[in-house]
Amino acid sequence: MKRLVIEGQHELSGTIKIGGAKNSVVALIPAAILAEDEATIYNVPAISDVQNLKEITEYLGSDITYQNETIKINNKNSQNREITKEFSTKLRASYYYMGAFLAKYRHVEISFPGGCNIGSRPIDFHLKGFAKMGAKIKQDGDKYIIDAKKLRGAEIFLDVASVGATLNIMLAAIKAEGTTSIYNAAMEPEIVNVAAFLNSMGAKVRGAGTSEIKIKGVSKLGKGIVEVIPDRIEAGTYLMIGSLLGKNLVIEGIIKEHLESVLTKLHEAGADFEIKGTKIIVNKTKKLKPVNVRTLVYPGFPTDLGQPMSTLLTQCDGESLFEETIYENRMRHIKHLNSMGADIKLFDKKAIIRGKTTLKGREVIATDLRAGAAMLVAGMIAEGTTIITNIEHILRGYEKLVGKLSSVGAVIKIDEV
Ligand code: EPU
Repeated sequence: MKRLVIEGQHELSGTIKIGGAKNSVVALIPAAILAEDEATIYNVPAISDVQNLKEITEYLGSDITYQNETIKINNKNSQNREITKEFSTKLRASYYYMGAFLAKYRHVEISFPGGCNIGSRPIDFHLKGFAKMGAKIKQDGDKYIIDAKKLRGAEIFLDVASVGATLNIMLAAIKAEGTTSIYNAAMEPEIVNVAAFLNSMGAKVRGAGTSEIKIKGVSKLGKGIVEVIPDRIEAGTYLMIGSLLGKNLVIEGIIKEHLESVLTKLHEAGADFEIKGTKIIVNKTKKLKPVNVRTLVYPGFPTDLGQPMSTLLTQCDGESLFEETIYENRMRHIKHLNSMGADIKLFDKKAIIRGKTTLKGREVIATDLRAGAAMLVAGMIAEGTTIITNIEHILRGYEKLVGKLSSVGAVIKIDEV
């Protein structure tokens, strides 16, 4: 078992370079099987989700190399094989093989995906979208068998602007007959990144990044090439850590527009940072003001940064309100924050956070990926030593975590016990 051991309260200075976005690359690798020949993906982050998708790609018979942050996939020998439970449950994003296989083979066999336990996370919008395009879906326990003799363009309205459903329907529609329109589409930057990749292969996706996406089916796709956008969640997490411990800490390689809601909230709290092009220079803020944070779909405050932000709120002088609106179960970190000395009252998906409280190092659990990020921020600012268990969750989303933080002055290591 791996544990993260952090000695808190060390000042951080130097530069942290942001890697490629997890939630982009986990869709780009499954999308790459649509390239008739080679696909190249640059700026690939070194996270365990990528490793798992590499294994799935190999299992499917494609050649894949991963060197110098670049993945090259050649699909000459790829086959349509069942994505068994063993593979599908390793990560949430295995479900993108549904859309990609439907487009490529018109037949998919796959087990229900894995991912963080942060709520019920159904995939009904994905399946309804496929059905609207003419696919027949059978469910046998946890396994889905999806067939489509023909896939036709369709008008699809999403009840919720779901990232996964938008991407999966986009993938399925790439080679469908006619045009598919997705209304109330998710607008996250990761959607734009995947659309750009598909268009580089010759697909015709328009409107990605807005709430209305149109996909005109094409009969053939060619080579694909794309660079993964910077991980706005990784950047946001380090920005929060920098607001608490930074001394001219530089967060490098960001796209400011992707972080607007987070920067606005930190500014409102009085955080000391300056943006210079693709860099943010951040300093420890003497006195942080309390703020109210409500997670929303993009361009709102991202649910994936809600948990680390709640740790920052324990350091604001006064009462902050934190509300999670996307998932039912993203508050499991609160009791661990309280065990470290935070003063947080939880009311279902809302929390009242009273600060400023001194956090004390102790053993806590990363109950899911972003809960782990919340514990990481807490451990970095706590008195004494914090031990975080279940860190496999954290390593799914934060590349070279120990190396990046140690290089700027943190005292942090991974222990194997
Ligand atoms: N939903 C449904 N039915 C569906 C699809 C979604 O009810 O068919 C609900 C979900 O239960 C949730 C809401 O709609 O309440 C939004 O879910 P969405 O589909 O947008 O989330 P996702 O695609 O499963 C991706 C990221 C998440 C991130 C969300 C929101 C991946 C692999 N995962 O999940 O990332 O929180 O979008 O931005 O891209 C993380 O990185 O920690 C993480 C959980």
